[in-house]
Amino acid sequence: MAEIGTDILYAKALLEQGEVVAIPTETVYGLAGNALNVASVTKIFEVKNRPQFDPLIVHVPDIDKAQEYVSDIPEPARKLAERFWPGPLTLLLPKKKIIPDLVTSGMDTVGIRCPNHPMTRQLLRELPFPLAAPSANPFGYVSPTTPEHVNEQLGDKIAYILDGGPCRVGIESTIVGFDDDVMVIYRMGGLSLEQIESVAGTVLVQAHSTSNPKAPGQLKSHYAPGKKVIIGTIEDLLQQYPAHTSGLLTFQTDFNSPYQYILSPSGNLEEAAQHLFTALRAFDKMPIDYILVELLPEEGLGRAINDRLRRAAAVE
Ligand code: TXA
Ligand code: MG
Repeated sequence: MAEIGTDILYAKALLEQGEVVAIPTETVYGLAGNALNVASVTKIFEVKNRPQFDPLIVHVPDIDKAQEYVSDIPEPARKLAERFWPGPLTLLLPKKKIIPDLVTSGMDTVGIRCPNHPMTRQLLRELPFPLAAPSANPFGYVSPTTPEHVNEQLGDKIAYILDGGPCRVGIESTIVGFDDDVMVIYRMGGLSLEQIESVAGTVLVQAHSTSNPKAPGQLKSHYAPGKKVIIGTIEDLLQQYPAHTSGLLTFQTDFNSPYQYILSPSGNLEEAAQHLFTALRAFDKMPIDYILVELLPEEGLGRAINDRLRRAAAVE
């Protein structure tokens, strides 16, 4: 198992030696390495068992640093960054040569994000390089939102997990890029569509699953827990699936089942997002065969939550 601790300088030393370290962010835990060092980036792909066609997000402490790695920040992107960084927003921007092709899977844009977690911000400020960091889970599985989640799955492969507590947002960042001059959301995430549109006006959403994804986070079957996930109205699903082998994932409703997880009794979408991945992981440990799921309201963070639920339900 990996060591879990709060020693930022130790994390820094490991990263400077080319090692990978799990780091806290406000969205999910990341598996970080020196983004400018091909050997470190290779280790990230290996530890995650991630195919090299799936590019990594590069984490920076502020906009000024971002400019060192991208050749242009179009005005609309700059506005978003000024308003929402540090925060759960990733911008796809034209990369400079200094970013290795391995980081971007050969694409000419790089995903840049300034995460909002005090420990990781300090780490980023002290390091002489930016951090490439995908979510710290094996490829295709649910992202981790606590150090223990990371340790359970990757503990044997990494030396250190920087403990920043449970993630405040709980789902991954929203990915925004440009198609010609049109702003496009490629992944719904911790920054809502409403928040983005309040700054950028109407934007195009292309976060749906496709067979030829621009971002493999768009792959249909992704974020998959170990059990079969079925979406519908819980009452109806309980007519078709046996209650004693079914977990129930609800927004607010209490079905009095021993195998249920209520995301937010008060109906708060932020709270629901915070708990989503912990809930999906909890079901993996229950003696059940199915996870019966109801979708949440399609607004605010509900969109990103529903996106993850639909993908968890997609089996390929
Ligand atoms: O909240 C987050 O974004 C977390 C934390 C650790 O920052 N990171 C994260 O990384 O979710 P990852 O690798 O699990 O998901 C990143 C997604 C992938 O689907 C990848 O394909 C897409 O971002 N992506 C990264 N760079 C891209 C690029 N240049 N063009 C298109 N998609 C890109
Ligand atoms: Mg991921």
